[in-house]
Amino acid sequence: MAKIVGGMTTSHVPAIGGALHKGLQNEPYWKPFFDGFLPVRQWLDEVKPDIAVVFYNDHGLNFFLDKMPTFAIGAAAQYHNADEGWGIPTLPPFKGATDLSWHLINHLVERDFDLTTCQEMLVDHAFTLPLKLFWPEGDCPVLTVPICINTVQFPLPSAKRCLALGRAVGEAIAAWDSDKKVVVIGTGGLSHQLDGERAGFINKPFDLKFMDSLFTDPEWATQFSINELVEKTGTQGVELLMWLATRGAVPGAVRRVHTNYHIPISNTAAGTMAFAAA
Ligand code: DHB
Ligand code: FE
Repeated sequence: MAKIVGGMTTSHVPAIGGALHKGLQNEPYWKPFFDGFLPVRQWLDEVKPDIAVVFYNDHGLNFFLDKMPTFAIGAAAQYHNADEGWGIPTLPPFKGATDLSWHLINHLVERDFDLTTCQEMLVDHAFTLPLKLFWPEGDCPVLTVPICINTVQFPLPSAKRCLALGRAVGEAIAAWDSDKKVVVIGTGGLSHQLDGERAGFINKPFDLKFMDSLFTDPEWATQFSINELVEKTGTQGVELLMWLATRGAVPGAVRRVHTNYHIPISNTAAGTMAFAAA
């Protein structure tokens, strides 16, 4: 059976891609953020996953406001990158793990998660940048399965539903008849608001409590409605739903590999976390 090695989460602010491209990792503004990836990469070198299942939110590239699935999953052999153009330069296509995609689709639909199945899917910074941060050298060495959660247009799925989706994904991976090692990734957050009267809003106490809850009590965030999460974390802070889904996908207790939290990157409270399956 396939093995889940653990989970990794990070913010996906496009400006990070620009800094990566210009080699600014050791500049004072960027160093506290980029240093958070060193222990995570060391752990990746040890566990060597074959496939990454990536929870992320599309920002109007593959899905626009006229067609907005709540949950969507890729089932393509390749995922082409296209983006707004102010982060990392366009990356070569990412390879898809189509056998795992179809296994997940069958399992998840059977478990009453009615996902949109995408045999073609463009991926934006929320997918490409974290993969580049975790594996900066050369082409991405893992096959991928993208899973999109709508955090762009209301109504959004609840925290409870996203945790349940993550758990169903974890069950499906564990039941997959394969010798592959799988890491689950969640990208977005933490607290940030890019528009409106509260632009620049950041809530450090909430972010820290949320990060800690993923170790001590993964259900904690499910007490909040989406409106409450927006109030506490900002209109784009709800991207933390990807972190919750990722935690859900790794069963039982987890071991902390590394946690990093830094304010600000652009307008965002930037967090990075990795946890190993028990
Ligand atoms: C920023 C953050 C995001 O999550 C995003 O998708 C785009 C921009 C930012 O803080 O600049
Ligand atoms: Fe975003």
